[in-house]
Amino acid sequence: MKPAITVLGTGRMGAALAHALLKGGHSTTVWNRTIEKTAALAAAGATVAASVLDAVEASEIIVVNVTDYPATAVLLRGDVASALRGKLVVELTSGTPNGAREAGEWATEYGVTYLDGAIMATPDFIGTEHGTILVSGPRQVFEQSKEMLQALGGNVQHVGDDLGLANALDSALLALMWGSLFGALQSIAVCRAESIDLGELARQWTATAPVVEGLVTDLIKRTEAGRLAADDETLSSISPHYSAFRHLVELMDVRKIDRTVVDGYDAIFRRGIAAGHLHDDFAALSQFMGEAG
Ligand SMILES: NC(=O)c1ccc[n+]([C@@H]2O[C@H](COP(=O)([O-])OP(=O)(O)OC[C@H]3O[C@@H](n4cnc5c(N)ncnc54)[C@H](OP(=O)(O)O)[C@@H]3O)[C@@H](O)[C@H]2O)c1
Repeated sequence: MKPAITVLGTGRMGAALAHALLKGGHSTTVWNRTIEKTAALAAAGATVAASVLDAVEASEIIVVNVTDYPATAVLLRGDVASALRGKLVVELTSGTPNGAREAGEWATEYGVTYLDGAIMATPDFIGTEHGTILVSGPRQVFEQSKEMLQALGGNVQHVGDDLGLANALDSALLALMWGSLFGALQSIAVCRAESIDLGELARQWTATAPVVEGLVTDLIKRTEAGRLAADDETLSSISPHYSAFRHLVELMDVRKIDRTVVDGYDAIFRRGIAAGHLHDDFAALSQFMGEAG
C-alpha cells in the first residue's frame, strides 16, 4: 500500500502537488492557511485537516510548499515539531542553500528526517513525465521516498547529500532563465521601437533558439574544461560578440531604450577585454564574474 502523505500549503504549486499525489494513489491530507483553497482538493478526495498539527499527525511523510522558509519555520514549531519526530519532511518551498542547511540542523535537533527539494517546473508540469524536481539530502532517504516523489514529477533527481545543493542548482538554473526573460524584454523593446511585429519576433526566436542553446551548452562545457583561449572549435571569440553588442547598444541609445541590463553586460565585456581576452573564446568571460568565477 502506498504511504499516506500530508501536504502543507495548497497555493498554486502545493495544490498541484496534492492533486498529483491523489492521482498517484496516495491517501492525501492537506492543510492550508486559507481553507477555501482546499475545496477542489477535498472534491478530488483529499482529507482537509483543521490544523497543522492534525495534518502532521495524519501521515508519516509531510510535503511542505509555502511561500518561503520563514513561513515553514512558523508552521513547524512547538507541538508540531514534537509531532514530527521520526517522520519525513520533504521541503519543496523555494529557498537558499543555507536556508536548507539550517532547516537540516533544525530537523536533526527534533529527530525529523529531512529532504530538501527545488521544483524546476510550473504547476502544469507537476505529475507529468516532464516535471523536474531536484532533491538533496541523504541518498538512502531519497531512494526510500522515490516512488512518492515520482508521483510529483517524472524527472525527480537526487543531486547530492548536501542539503543546500538543490536550492543552489535552482538559483543557477533560474539565473539562466532570467537571462532569457530579461533578454526577451529587451528584444520586445527593440521590436516595438523598430515597428517589428512581435509575432515575427516569436517566429524568429523559435528558429534561432537552438543556436542559443548550443552556445550556452558550449560555454558551460568549455568553462568546465578550462578551454578559455580560442581554438579550432571556438564558435565565436569575444571580439565579434562585442561588435554585435555595440550595435545593440547604439540602437538602444538612438531609440532611448532602457540600458540597465545591457550596461551590466557591457561591464563584464570591458573587464574581459581590458584583461587582454578580446580574441579569446567567449568562455574567457567566466573569469570575470566575481571571486568564485
Ligand atoms: N508556481 C510556480 O510555478 C513555482 C515553481 C517552482 C517553485 N515554486 C515554489 O513553490 C512555493 C509556492 O509557490 P506558489 O506558486 O504555490 O505560491 P502561491 O500560490 O502564492 O501559494 C503560496 C502558499 O504559501 C502559503 N503561505 C504563505 N505564507 C504563509 C504563512 N505565513 N503561513 C502559512 N502559509 C503561508 C499560502 O497560504 P494562503 O493560501 O493562506 O495564502 C499558499 O498556500 C514557493 O516557494 C515557490 O517559489 C513555485
